[in-house]
Amino acid sequence: MKLGRLNHVGVATPSIEKSLELYRTMFGAKPHGEPFDLPTQGVRVCFVDTPNSQIELIEPLGDSSPIAKFLEKNPMGGQHHVCFEVPDIHAAKAELEAKGARVLGEPRIGAHGTPVFFVHPKDMGGVLTEFMETPKH
Ligand code: CO
Repeated sequence: MKLGRLNHVGVATPSIEKSLELYRTMFGAKPHGEPFDLPTQGVRVCFVDTPNSQIELIEPLGDSSPIAKFLEKNPMGGQHHVCFEVPDIHAAKAELEAKGARVLGEPRIGAHGTPVFFVHPKDMGGVLTEFMETPKH
């Protein structure tokens, strides 16, 4: 398996608006489009572009959001996951599982409109890692 490009770094935040304000003040950075809800992942999302990747700001959506616990432990927010592109999501899942990685659920459509899955941080050196099928343009 070949690791693709770093698509984004996921940053959990209690307020996307406050985080956008921080990126604007510190770097003059603008959001890549408007924040949007991703109900299948239980998060509200907004991207900030960098020259070679993106920051994915994620805010809890609903009471059972998977990032609610993270924010309980890290009330000001913080780095939550990294996301690598792979050419074929199902091949990547099968290969990682064959190597003993715990894949969290079935691939589902992520914030970029292509299928994604997550691997448990305990099997990735403590880093929650998302894999995303490279968008086909
Ligand atoms: Co992500």
